[in-house]
Amino acid sequence: MRLIIATRNPDKLREFRELLADAAAAGLTIVGAGEVPGLPEIVEDGTTLEDNAIRKAVGVHAATSEWALADDSGVEVDALGGEPGVHSAIYAGPHRDPEANNRKLLEALAGCSNRRARFRCVLALAGPGFPPATVEGRCEGVITTEPRGRHGFGYDPLFIPDGFSQTFAELSAEQKNRISHRARALRAALRAWGPLLRAAAAQATQRDSPSG
Ligand code: IMP
Repeated sequence: MRLIIATRNPDKLREFRELLADAAAAGLTIVGAGEVPGLPEIVEDGTTLEDNAIRKAVGVHAATSEWALADDSGVEVDALGGEPGVHSAIYAGPHRDPEANNRKLLEALAGCSNRRARFRCVLALAGPGFPPATVEGRCEGVITTEPRGRHGFGYDPLFIPDGFSQTFAELSAEQKNRISHRARALRAALRAWGPLLRAAAAQATQRDSPSG
């Protein structure tokens, strides 16, 4: 049985493969969206991270009739009423320029003492006979007053996770991946759906085997 991960981002796909290794051992084949020809391009114009993640998972399941897992993520800033949130990638415009996004966020918070924020990642699962469902992972922290660090991507140079003095962009990939919103969402997904996916994979293997 296949689980299609609705992403074309190789780093995300690698993280998904690592965290789903147990389910893979039970017969689940993890496939990236880039490996499935003819998948529709799904427009991420939902009003919440949940909306977008569900749209992507349901879109891939509808096109393939297979199991599909999708994610959406963003940074929510308390003093901005949760913005940029679902608009994180296009905060400073449709060109998705991370440096322009970071500049705009620092300008929006200029002189503001409440710099509390969180990264949030929502994962959605859709599959045969399974109503689409979501889980989430969060990483709480604060927004700096200037960019720091060269690792990571997006808003990483502006985000200091609670319990650390460095930004995400100053931490190593291993350190970030232990505490990130995405890693936490994936662990929640495994708790919620791991048994179901392992059982469905085992059933499919039995059905497909010559003696099954
Ligand atoms: P998506 O989940 O790839 O759609 O991410 C949406 C946007 O949220 C990205 O373009 C980034 O701007 C921001 N974002 C999500 N996760 C992270 C992260 O781990 N670090 C920095 N920025 C992130």
